[in-house]
Amino acid sequence: MRLRHIAGAEQTVADCVYVVGDPQDRKGCWNRVFGNDHPIRMEIGMGKGKFLMEMARQDPLINYVGVELYSSVLLKAIQKQEEEKLSNVRFLCVDALRLGEIFAGGETERIYLNFSDPWPKDRHAKRRLTSPRFLAVYEGILVPDGKLEFKTDNRPLFEYSLDVLAGEGWEIEMQTFDLHRSPYAAGNILTEYEEKFSSEGKQICKLVASRPKKE
Ligand SMILES: C[S@@+](CC[C@H](N)C(=O)[O-])C[C@H]1O[C@@H](n2cnc3c(N)ncnc32)[C@H](O)[C@@H]1O
Repeated sequence: MRLRHIAGAEQTVADCVYVVGDPQDRKGCWNRVFGNDHPIRMEIGMGKGKFLMEMARQDPLINYVGVELYSSVLLKAIQKQEEEKLSNVRFLCVDALRLGEIFAGGETERIYLNFSDPWPKDRHAKRRLTSPRFLAVYEGILVPDGKLEFKTDNRPLFEYSLDVLAGEGWEIEMQTFDLHRSPYAAGNILTEYEEKFSSEGKQICKLVASRPKKE
């Protein structure tokens, strides 16, 4: 994703009541952040937040955490949330690699990865959000039957992710190389990137995987 520097973005993020500051202090007590015991789902690399906010509108009894690395990207989501004030939405401006410091084991029910950056060069493979070191973080914070949902237009990244997930012991529960023309299309919520790529005629791949079962 091409990034623009936006003056004041970091301060706006720091000042926003919906962005959780010092998030490592919330580890094990996220129910206090939301003021209830509802399950937590998160989108990692949420971009401008269209998908996350629509999920939150549809499921008020689920808490949604949007994770985004860049404050300049998070700004748009913050603007929308400050207008709408959805009580079940919070944001984190952190690298997903840090999520194990921020959530205790079993504190998250489901993780969404939507149109994650593909990092096509082999030497950058470890930056992919479906690489083994990220999967280990997700495994550490998900409930025992927790799920990872992944959508992308990038077929090589999708095939790489299927291989890595299987290799790391995740069970692939569903997969399709053409989501919008599959039985799984019903109820699908489009992300910003999904809208753009599908309007260009690109096929969208989707998988759902469940966390490795420990003996
Ligand atoms: C291509 S955009 C997709 C945005 C949105 N999910 C969508 O589908 O429209 C990928 C996003 O992931 C974020 N991202 C990349 N690596 C990340 C990481 N390690 N931790 C958190 N966010 C990350 C990027 O900053 C970018 O906003």
